[in-house]
Amino acid sequence: MDKIRIVGGNRLEGEVKVSGAKNASLPILAACLLTRGECVLHGIPCLRDVEVMLQVLRSLGARVTWQGSDLVVSAQEVVATEIPESLMRQMRASNLVMGALLGRCGTFKAFTPGGCAIGSRPMDLHLKGFNALGAKINQEYGFIIGEAQRVRGVSIQLDFPSVGATENLMMAATLAEGVTVIRNAAREPEIVDLQNFLRRLGARIWGAGTHEIRIEGVANLGSGEHTVIPDRIETGTFLVAGVLTQGDVLISNAVEEHVESILAKLQEAGAEVSSGKEGVRVRGGCCLKAVDVKTLPYPGFPTDMQPQIVTLLSVANGTSLVTETIFENRFKHIDELRRMGARVRLEGRSVIIYGVPRLTGAIVEASDLRAGAALVLAGLVADGETLVEGTVHIDRGYERLEEKFKQLGADIQRLTK
Ligand code: EPZ
Repeated sequence: MDKIRIVGGNRLEGEVKVSGAKNASLPILAACLLTRGECVLHGIPCLRDVEVMLQVLRSLGARVTWQGSDLVVSAQEVVATEIPESLMRQMRASNLVMGALLGRCGTFKAFTPGGCAIGSRPMDLHLKGFNALGAKINQEYGFIIGEAQRVRGVSIQLDFPSVGATENLMMAATLAEGVTVIRNAAREPEIVDLQNFLRRLGARIWGAGTHEIRIEGVANLGSGEHTVIPDRIETGTFLVAGVLTQGDVLISNAVEEHVESILAKLQEAGAEVSSGKEGVRVRGGCCLKAVDVKTLPYPGFPTDMQPQIVTLLSVANGTSLVTETIFENRFKHIDELRRMGARVRLEGRSVIIYGVPRLTGAIVEASDLRAGAALVLAGLVADGETLVEGTVHIDRGYERLEEKFKQLGADIQRLTK
């Protein structure tokens, strides 16, 4: 099992480019099943989760080939409509092909994975929406089967602005008969990127980025080419690293609008933030201030940045309160940070952080990809050596993370057995 070894204390300085967004790439790859045409995708990152999605597409009959750094997907024939259980177990986001299969073939079958490290992750909102679109849903023996003669347009009100449910319903509605309106839709930038891709294929879809998305069903879609947006969570991770190490980091391909809530919190904590055509830049001051954070659906502070900001606040001056409103169990990183000297106390869905002057290196274990990133960040400032185990989680969502940190001056390397 690989480990990432960090010796803390170096200031990070310089310029880095983040990879394409994992959480835009996955739904866009699923959407390739909606068309017989050829989809050419640029900027798709080389990640474990992307590899799993490519295996899902191939298992359903799509032809998937890398041409240099470009990905070409062609689902001329869809020969199966069951998502392989082994792949669903590896990555729950495999469920993003359900909507595309329902729209293209009128049916899907999916193994229902259990919970994961951050929560129970139910799919009730997805299924309620499919049902509203005319699908009969059966759940038995640990599988979900959806069937619809023809998906028909309808007005759907989501109980919660679920990212995955919004994306699944957008895809199913693209080939429906009639007009679909999704209300209380998620507004994340990845939703807008999916809409832009679907439009390139000829879909008639408007409103992504707002709470109301309107889709006029079409008979079929064509070919298209698309470049995925930069990863805003990777951007946030590097911004935190720059502040944490009192460094000076420029993320040259960052989209400022996508990270506004993160920049606002870093500024509140005392960091110097600037942005322009050269990208988004952050400089860390000598004394970080404690701040309170509450995770919310976009454009609020992202849950995927909660572990990373907890690491930052663990060495701030004063007491911070971080509240996680999206997932019910996303504090696995707390125990590991405690072992590095952080003084934190869990109170229900909040964590109280009493800032300490320094952390000390330790052997720590990543439980999910963002917790793993938070532990790498802690290693960057801890005294001595930190070994982060469970890099398999980190590799799900970060492409060449240690290389990028090394490029900024960190003393970091991957140890492979
Ligand atoms: C997406 O997950 C992201 N994954 C997650 O990123 C991210 O944390 C999450 O959105 C929130 O922003 C991908 O895009 C592949 P949700 P998703 O549906 O779609 C509950 C990462 O680190 N819910 O918005 O699964 C759910 O349990 C990953 O890259 C229901 O109750 O998130 C959670 O509490 C982790 N019923 C909340 O809603 C449903 O049917 C938000 O879930 C669906 C969701």
